[in-house]
Amino acid sequence: MNPKMNRRKFLGNTTLLGASIAAGSVFAADRASAPRKVKVALIGCGGRGTGALSNFIDACKILGLEAEVVATGDAFQINAENAGKKYALPSEKCFSGYDNYQKVIATDCEYVLMATPPAFRPLHFAAAVAAGKHCFIEKPVAVDPCGARSIIATGEIANTKKLAVVAGTQRRHMLAYLRNKALIDAGAIGTIKGGVVQWDGTVPWTKTRNADESNASYLTRNWLNFTELSGDHIVEQHIHNLDVAVWFLGRLPVTAIGYGGRARRKTGNMFDFFSVDYDFGNDVHIHSQCRQMSGTYQRIGEVFTGTDGTCFAGGKLSGKKVEIPEIKVDSDNGQVQEHVDMIRSVITGKPLNDAKSVAESTLVAIMGRISAYTGEIVRWSDLMSNEQSPFYQLTCKPTAADFEIGEVILPEEVPPTPGKA
Ligand SMILES: NC(=O)c1ccc[n+]([C@@H]2O[C@H](COP(=O)([O-])OP(=O)(O)OC[C@H]3O[C@@H](n4cnc5c(N)ncnc54)[C@H](O)[C@@H]3O)[C@@H](O)[C@H]2O)c1
Repeated sequence: MNPKMNRRKFLGNTTLLGASIAAGSVFAADRASAPRKVKVALIGCGGRGTGALSNFIDACKILGLEAEVVATGDAFQINAENAGKKYALPSEKCFSGYDNYQKVIATDCEYVLMATPPAFRPLHFAAAVAAGKHCFIEKPVAVDPCGARSIIATGEIANTKKLAVVAGTQRRHMLAYLRNKALIDAGAIGTIKGGVVQWDGTVPWTKTRNADESNASYLTRNWLNFTELSGDHIVEQHIHNLDVAVWFLGRLPVTAIGYGGRARRKTGNMFDFFSVDYDFGNDVHIHSQCRQMSGTYQRIGEVFTGTDGTCFAGGKLSGKKVEIPEIKVDSDNGQVQEHVDMIRSVITGKPLNDAKSVAESTLVAIMGRISAYTGEIVRWSDLMSNEQSPFYQLTCKPTAADFEIGEVILPEEVPPTPGKA
C-alpha cells in the first residue's frame, strides 16, 4: 500500500484501509543511532529456532543493522552444528547437552532466541535475564502453573534491568490482527459477547524410541507428544488462538470447564482433542476447540461476536464505521515483525516486555488442559493465587532441572482419565 496515504481512514465492512506495510526509509531515524552489529545466539536449533534466527537476521536488515550469530545451543551436538554451519560458526561455539544454555548465555551475545520445547523455557529464560540478555521466547513459555508464574517473576526482573522480552505470539505483530484489534477497541463491533477459537488440524509428527535410547533422548526427540515437555497441543499450538481471545477481550477467563480424549495418537500421553468453555465473566463465554487428527476437517482461527458486528480476528470485520489511526508494520511476516519490534524497542530505549502476557496466555491454555484431564472446573485463582488448590503447585516431571542432573524418568505413555486423574 502507498505509504503516503492519509494518516486517518474511515473503516467499515471491508476494512483493508488504514493499515499499511511501512517503507524501510520511514525508520531512518533508528538507523542513525543504531550500532551496526547485533550479536545473537540461539538455544533450541530445530525448525522454529532456525526459522527465528533467520527472521531475526531479516529484522536486522530492515532496521539497517547487521546480525552476527555468535553461538548456538541444542540438546544434540549435530543440531547445534547444523544450525551454526549456515553462519560459519566454529564447532566450539555450537554447544550441546542439557547445560548448553549456560554456555550460550556465557558468550557475548546481546540477544538470545529460545526455541526449545517449552518445558525448558522458565529455566533458560531466568538464566538469560540474570546474565543481562534481551530475550526472544517462543510460545508457549511453560507447561505447568509453577513454570508460568516463574516466567512472570523473571519478566519483572527483566523490567528492572531494562531488557526486552518478546514472545513468539506473532499474531500480535500482524497487520490484519493489529487492525482488527484497533477497530474493536474503537467500537466497530460493539461489546464482545462471545466467540470461538479453533486449531483443528493434524498431528504434526511423532517419533518412536530407538533401541538402547535413553529416556532423556527419547523424550527430547519426541517432545511434541508428551505433556511434560510440550504442555499438550492445547498449550503448545492452540495457545495462539487463546492468546488472541485474551488480547482482543482485554481480560482473563475466570473459569474453564473442558473435556477431551484420545482416539488415535500412538506415542506419548497427550489427548487428540479438547473442547473447553472459558467463562470470561460478564456473561461472555469463549468456546475453545482444538484437535490434532489427520483426515478430519481443519480450521484455524478466532471469531468474536459483538453487539454490533462480527470479527474474524485475522480477516473480515463486519460492523459499524469507526475511525482508527493508520497502523504500520515493516514486514508482512509477523515472525519477522516481532523481531523488528523487539530490536527497535531496545534501540529506542523502551524495551518491550511480553513475559506477563505470554505467561498468562500459556496459563489460560494450561487451565483448559487441567480441566479436560481431571474433569474438574478450574478457576484462574487455582493457578495464580489459591495456594490451597491442588493445581497451584502442579509441576510436570521430569523437569528441566531433572534433565540437567540426568534423572529422567519416562512418564507413562497413557493419556489421563477424567474423573480419576
Ligand atoms: N510461533 C510459532 O508459530 C511456532 C511454530 C512452531 C513452533 N513453535 C514453538 O517453538 C518451540 C520449538 O518448536 P520446533 O517446532 O522448533 O521444535 P523442534 O523439535 O523442531 O526443535 C526443538 C529443538 O530443541 C532442541 N532441544 C530440546 N531440548 C533442548 C534443551 N534442553 N536445550 C537446547 N535444545 C533443546 C531439540 O533437539 C530440537 O533441535 C516450541 O515451543 C514450539 O511450540 C512456535
